[in-house]
Amino acid sequence: MTQFKRTFLNKKFVAIGFAFTILFACPIDFNLSNIERFGPNIASAATTTYTTTDNLNIRTGPSTTNKIITTVKKGTQLTVTGKASNGWLKVSVKGQTGYVSSQYVKVTNSTGNAVKKPENKSNVAATTYTATDNLNIRTGPSTANKIITTVKKGTQLTVTGKASNGWLKVSIKGQTGYVSSQYVKISNSSSDTIHVVTQPESISVLVNKKNKLPENYVPKDLVYTSIPFIFKEKTEKRKMRNEASIAIGKLFADAKKQGVSLLGVSAYRSHATQVTLFNNYVKRDGYDKAITYSALPGTSEHETGLAIDVTGGNGKCAAQDCFGGTKEAKWLKSHAADYGFIIRYPQGKESITGYQYEPWHLRYVGKSIAQTIMGKGITLEEYYSKSSTK
Ligand code: DAL
Ligand code: ZN
Repeated sequence: MTQFKRTFLNKKFVAIGFAFTILFACPIDFNLSNIERFGPNIASAATTTYTTTDNLNIRTGPSTTNKIITTVKKGTQLTVTGKASNGWLKVSVKGQTGYVSSQYVKVTNSTGNAVKKPENKSNVAATTYTATDNLNIRTGPSTANKIITTVKKGTQLTVTGKASNGWLKVSIKGQTGYVSSQYVKISNSSSDTIHVVTQPESISVLVNKKNKLPENYVPKDLVYTSIPFIFKEKTEKRKMRNEASIAIGKLFADAKKQGVSLLGVSAYRSHATQVTLFNNYVKRDGYDKAITYSALPGTSEHETGLAIDVTGGNGKCAAQDCFGGTKEAKWLKSHAADYGFIIRYPQGKESITGYQYEPWHLRYVGKSIAQTIMGKGITLEEYYSKSSTK
């Protein structure tokens, strides 16, 4: 998949270079609507031929849950015409169209003559690039547009689209802008890559700085929780996904029975809310500080409907360090797992979670996983690193 993407993009850059030559000779009328889709201007890119590295099923859709159309032998040539957001490849073989896992194919020619436009799925994964020089990020795709900010050489940029002149649409520090593709390269270390999670609706989904939610993800089963909050208004912040909402209701009720009074501070946050929140923190504290305690939009667990910030019944220390020493915080540390919650950003695990200690941020993962994580004193990242790389 990565190989495909790289080869494919290399080819695009050749096309981009060509486009630039024309650009400077002709007046340009930018059609911004073209920018919204990734790779809208690749009609001249060559079709890529792959060869299967094993006997391989070709399916009606991009996952093993789809029906097998046909099975091709190891060594069969496939013409790849597109790519699904999960990395499966759309192929054309023996006059038929289907999908194959990219694990069992390799690129066999990079200069085919056929001219075909790969299909772009709407939620194609964002690609991470690195600035190869100090770089201006602008409001539009040319140097005629205003500079939003300047980033240093080595800064990572999440590319979400491409203008018809080759300029890249990027997301950085919570802002959207455009950069010249001349001064960026694809980040080639897998540790640099930000993955788009494939099962955002999973109760145990890993969402962090390297694993972001798909664009436009909104949980389907959000409900208003029954618990009291530090505010009175009926806003989205009271919502959680149904299963998590039931669990937090039980946790609050049992805590109260044991003389521990809790209040909700903030549960679900829409993507738009996280954008506003994060931008406000950047304005207040600067990006480098903000990123230590607030998640970039798309990477906040609050957007999953599975997280909630809580505080003690007196409402003091809401989302503040002083909550850490309270009896409510201690009770949560001992009992949250019995209700399926973990303390998601523990003390001493900052380099693993990427965030400072947050004794108030509870994340619902289900009882079994929560008990394992809290019992071992580990993080969700450590829990997953044993079984797979997500
Ligand atoms: N405070 C946590 C990291 C968030 O913004 O989701
Ligand atoms: Zn939180």
